[in-house]
Amino acid sequence: MPDPQLVLAARVQDALSAAFGPSYADADPVIRPSQFADLQANVALPLAKKLGRKPREVADEIVGHLDVGDVVADVQVSGPGFINLTLSDTWIAGEAQRALRDARLGVPATDAPQKVVVEYSSPNVAKEMHVGHLRTTIVGDAIARILDFLGHDVVRDNHVGDWGTPFGMLIEHLLDLGEDAAARDDSSVSDLTAFYQAARAKFDGDEGFADRSRRRVVALQAGDPETLRLWNVLVDVSKRYFNSVYGMLGVTLTDDDIKGESFYNDLLAPTVQELEDKDIAVISDGALCAFPPGFTGREGEPLPVIIRKSDGGYNYSTTDLATIRYRVDTEHVDRMVYVVGAPQSLHFQMVFAVARMAGWLNDDVAAEHAQIGNVLGTDGKILRTRAGGTVKLSELLEEAVERAGTVFDEIQHDEPFDDATRAAIVRDVGIGAVKYADLSVARDSEYVFDFDRMISFNGKTGPYLQYAAARIRSIFRRGGLAPDEAAGPIAVADPAERALALRLLGFGAAVEQAGATAEPHKLAGYIYSVADAYTTFYENCPVLKAPDEATKASRLALCAATLRTLTTGLHLLGVPTPERM
Ligand code: ARG
Repeated sequence: MPDPQLVLAARVQDALSAAFGPSYADADPVIRPSQFADLQANVALPLAKKLGRKPREVADEIVGHLDVGDVVADVQVSGPGFINLTLSDTWIAGEAQRALRDARLGVPATDAPQKVVVEYSSPNVAKEMHVGHLRTTIVGDAIARILDFLGHDVVRDNHVGDWGTPFGMLIEHLLDLGEDAAARDDSSVSDLTAFYQAARAKFDGDEGFADRSRRRVVALQAGDPETLRLWNVLVDVSKRYFNSVYGMLGVTLTDDDIKGESFYNDLLAPTVQELEDKDIAVISDGALCAFPPGFTGREGEPLPVIIRKSDGGYNYSTTDLATIRYRVDTEHVDRMVYVVGAPQSLHFQMVFAVARMAGWLNDDVAAEHAQIGNVLGTDGKILRTRAGGTVKLSELLEEAVERAGTVFDEIQHDEPFDDATRAAIVRDVGIGAVKYADLSVARDSEYVFDFDRMISFNGKTGPYLQYAAARIRSIFRRGGLAPDEAAGPIAVADPAERALALRLLGFGAAVEQAGATAEPHKLAGYIYSVADAYTTFYENCPVLKAPDEATKASRLALCAATLRTLTTGLHLLGVPTPERM
């Protein structure tokens, strides 16, 4: 569905090149929302300066060449040279109608599809997922869904931390507990925090255990089959746990999307070899390092990316370099989006810089760190349980659902719900609340995890948007017609109808921008603005009791288009929309 801003930008550019020559065809027409019209084009001001002419004169000349009769009802030059543009009601109604009829709401799939790796979630094996992982999981899944919808070839990639020295002690601890404990979900193995801490405590306090653990690391790295089998037992316990969280969240990740650190183990040596062959990796203080230009420490000394430690071991950076090389050489990706916490920013900047030195990243292959800000408790500190421990994700989500139930029972419903229906709705509301709260804030900013604010039917919340969609569905039920039977034609007579239809036309641009910048909050904010415009419409324009049949048909069609914009938009964010509420 064509965004009015984009449509008018193209028209003003045409006028510019007609008036001042083809070199102005790509000039920024500086289209902005206007107080006096729908939009204004402000290009005359900078252009006048450049041409040494009066801005109003330049504006008049642009208007003289402007061919917008089909889109715009009124053009006015005002003030120093603003061109005010009022869209025509017929155009708005016609575009809304076109969107309604189109399965993709008028949003075309991209004509330049890219292969995009979206790396997200990436928890660590044998450790509890924390709220940081919750946020990267939710935001990453939305980014993947959005890019999918735009027509890109999306590779979901769960880069789990499943390799490295801690696995020596973890495997030994597993052997001490007895392997069969791992098969039971209620065992000490599946309480991952306790399991990890117990292994750690033994490692620190028991020299014999520490020795065994170190030997176990060597065996793991050498590919000893029995050690690998035990390692797999631990990986499986963790996968079961990750999947339970993903299932609860309704996240699209599956086991097939897991490509953990272990996957790149065999690629570490050849990656390092290539960096040495290209003279990028050099020995410094016994370690093999790369020094990407522009990264210096406090004293101005160059900062290293350590590729191989002095003891011969590889590390986190080595794996990330091997990952980039694999994605470029083997998977032939065009773009990599790393949905990972902001504290790892410097790590990624430096790794990307080394990858650029090696030629793996270049103008054709982009890597970006989609930074995720910390999640804080209502006290402004890193989120903890009341007892001060790390928050268990499953418990956090259960609490969200429980609280959603309390709030749900307080609002008015059209009909009573049986227990099973209520439970299903409440689950969607609780989970939707957590997800939308995560998604509505710019992903790189810190955000306060506040149940009371997110689980409210008022304000910028998931439940408010879900409720807006459910209310529209209820109009159709009362009217005895299915939403996709509402055929219009749409007309916009009332200002609230016009404002709503105009808002609906912004869907494509919102999805597009959210995908281009990997920032789902742009879509989240847009969806809220649709619900907001709908509320004003609903308060001012009776639908089932419209004054005449034509108005009723138009309003039902506006309701249907709004419903589909809300549900499609929320679906792209991964927020469920219950049929009834
Ligand atoms: N497993 C890491 C953690 O929990 C995140 C991995 C991020 N991805 C990467 N390619 N380094 O902090």
